[in-house]
Amino acid sequence: MFGLFYWIATKSMNNMNSNIYLGLMSGTSLDGVDGVLVELPEDGSEMHLLGSAYQPFSDAMRAEAMALQQPGENEIHREALLANQLAASYANCVATLLQQAPQVSVRAIGAHGQTIRHRPELGYTRQSNNPALLAELCGIDVIADLRSRDVAAGGQGAPLVPAFHRAIFAAPNVCRVVVNIGGISNISVLHADGSTTGFDTGPGNVLMDAWIAQHQAKAYDENGDWARQGQVQVDLLTVLCDEEFLHLSPPKSTGRDLFSPTWLSDKLSAFSTLAAVDVQATLCAFTASTLADAISRYAPEVSGVFVCGGGAYNANLMQQLAQELAQRGCHASVDSTAALGVSPSHVEALAFAWLAQRFILRLPGNLPDVTGAKGLRLLGALYPA
Ligand SMILES: Nc1ncnc2c1ncn2[C@@H]1O[C@H](COP(=O)(O)OP(=O)(O)O)[C@@H](O)[C@H]1O
Ligand SMILES: [Mg+2]
Repeated sequence: MFGLFYWIATKSMNNMNSNIYLGLMSGTSLDGVDGVLVELPEDGSEMHLLGSAYQPFSDAMRAEAMALQQPGENEIHREALLANQLAASYANCVATLLQQAPQVSVRAIGAHGQTIRHRPELGYTRQSNNPALLAELCGIDVIADLRSRDVAAGGQGAPLVPAFHRAIFAAPNVCRVVVNIGGISNISVLHADGSTTGFDTGPGNVLMDAWIAQHQAKAYDENGDWARQGQVQVDLLTVLCDEEFLHLSPPKSTGRDLFSPTWLSDKLSAFSTLAAVDVQATLCAFTASTLADAISRYAPEVSGVFVCGGGAYNANLMQQLAQELAQRGCHASVDSTAALGVSPSHVEALAFAWLAQRFILRLPGNLPDVTGAKGLRLLGALYPA
């Protein structure tokens, strides 16, 4: 293993003139890490994707990351060990990426880490990671802890991706919405006048994933095929939608702290006789309807909705999103970001490469209109190679 990392370190010494960055994103689905290697010209002209990789978490890592979402015994020690495992997994992803472009010099890695708690209302958000170990293993500057400064400035620390969405997906004189459906969903509204708003809308895949894991021992509902076989239960949907977070005005953000298996079992307590497949159908409809509510309310003039994150591969969810929008009088096209030339699996990792570049150039990464921070802030902390 260390031979491999020695190889990375000797191949990829930091180059201060390079515009090539690595972005690593592991989100609330706890599935693994998505990585990209990308050239980001400093003048903001078109980026060039040089490589991409996905490193799934082992079952044991996933289980421990899941367990650490809730209070538990000796969690400081357990979190530190998880952070070391995450750094090793991120370094493996980096090695795979660099094998795709062995000659390049990388300026920096933007590493999001794994959120284990997100409590901006209490003044903190915690992404598990060991960026010092990642820098040690890779021999590349690492920019980590990208959310805390926004929280310190009174913001939500999330979502951070709207600034990047604006940089690559905005079009003149039209309103576009970029929807990221990971474990949690967030939207970026790229208004026709050039302004950008956005917030977390609520669940993405997190509840559907939990339900199919419980009933079919699968990590997710491939293509939404299981949900498609069920009937949406309107009474249950009404109970699910009766959640304070969904009705709050932005800025707002959420995570597994709220939308947890406990939240779901509380909501299901009066529905114990429902068939599991009907619950899955209703959970899919819940994600679609919360997204459609948010888009129709905050972007009524939208002409195109572009979906990224793993939810873009759930055909049933995509279809329901289009239907729910149409029912609210919103007749925007609904596509994945592939229609704009970027794979839905790459968008978030690209955003963290872009945020690393913002740090290196000493440019702010947050949008105060989105997060509610007191002002623009430089995001992240540097762990030198
Ligand atoms: N082919 C697919 N069909 C249905 N859902 C999928 C598919 N591929 C991925 N997903 C969903 O996307 C999730 C991963 O999405 P991702 O964007 O990585 O989220 P996160 O950023 O929260 O890790 C999976 O847990 C699963 O729910
Ligand atoms: Mg993921």
